[in-house]
Amino acid sequence: MDYPHEPVLLHEVTRALSIVPEGIYVDCTVGSGGHSEAIARELGADGKLLCLDRDPDAVDIAGKRLAFLGQRLIIAQGSFADLRDFLLERGIERVHGVLLDLGMSSYQLEKSGRGFSFSRKEPLDMRMDPDLPQTASDLVNNASRQELAAILRKFGEEKRAGLIAKKIVQAREESLIRTSLELAELVRSVFPVSRGKRMRHPATKTFQALRIAVNNELEQLVSFLEQLPALLRQGGRIVIISYHSLEDRIVKRQMEKWEHPCTCPPDFPRCVCGNKPVFERITKRPIRPDTMEIARNPRARSAVMRVAERLSQ
Ligand SMILES: C[S@@+](CC[C@H](N)C(=O)[O-])C[C@H]1O[C@@H](n2cnc3c(N)ncnc32)[C@H](O)[C@@H]1O
Repeated sequence: MDYPHEPVLLHEVTRALSIVPEGIYVDCTVGSGGHSEAIARELGADGKLLCLDRDPDAVDIAGKRLAFLGQRLIIAQGSFADLRDFLLERGIERVHGVLLDLGMSSYQLEKSGRGFSFSRKEPLDMRMDPDLPQTASDLVNNASRQELAAILRKFGEEKRAGLIAKKIVQAREESLIRTSLELAELVRSVFPVSRGKRMRHPATKTFQALRIAVNNELEQLVSFLEQLPALLRQGGRIVIISYHSLEDRIVKRQMEKWEHPCTCPPDFPRCVCGNKPVFERITKRPIRPDTMEIARNPRARSAVMRVAERLSQ
């Protein structure tokens, strides 16, 4: 069967997780279940796979795909920011490996009808979890010009944030901005007409910023990283794939901190703070897709994977 999302760095992910057949693994962003299926194939009769996604459609699609696991599968809708409770409620204290494949899925972009794509005319929603209180349209039509500019700057690193915010506020005085295409055209009008071939749509950063704000993505990631050390057993691996520098910076800094937690001044002859390393990074440099994978699956081009292993507790 054809699934709507091609998993990125598939072999690298299963290798990095260093799967033991009787282990317990958590795919915190199951999406269409591509990574999960590959993990499942390496599990034995006593292994377990737990899957989470904020998007109920993902739980539905992946649940069917992974049904062959029977009792060895637990799948639920929820955020990885609540991973500790998700595991505790199921009587699980520590697991052998956790995967986070951040961002959005091809299903969300192309089939969800929720306005994630700037090239489709869809309601400007952008919620991964339809129960979240605020849509992108609410934000675009109600936030002040200053708030909008701050969101675009902070979550999109958009240089024209001020101009785009001004344009949005002017436009909504005429009529509310309700679709993804309306917003995309508005943003495009702020940019000079490009000569030659433009690499990215001018609304790319605006759409990223709004999606991050609507789904509170960075706070969710920080909260997950705070919980993680207590949930992995010794030798357990965390594998995280990020798709933009804001996410990757958070992951990179946290992994460095786990590996070098000492807070003593650099001129101290030896450590007196007593903070011991909690994780060891498996590769100091991030792992990226090769040119063949990018040619096959252009969405993989911005992927950056980092892996760390839990040390003794
Ligand atoms: C890149 S896709 C994952 C694709 C998946 N690895 C596969 O092979 O099909 C990212 C998924 O993460 C989910 N997601 C994003 N933030 C989340 C969060 N805080 N908690 C749980 N799922 C989240 C999205 O709904 C989306 O389905």
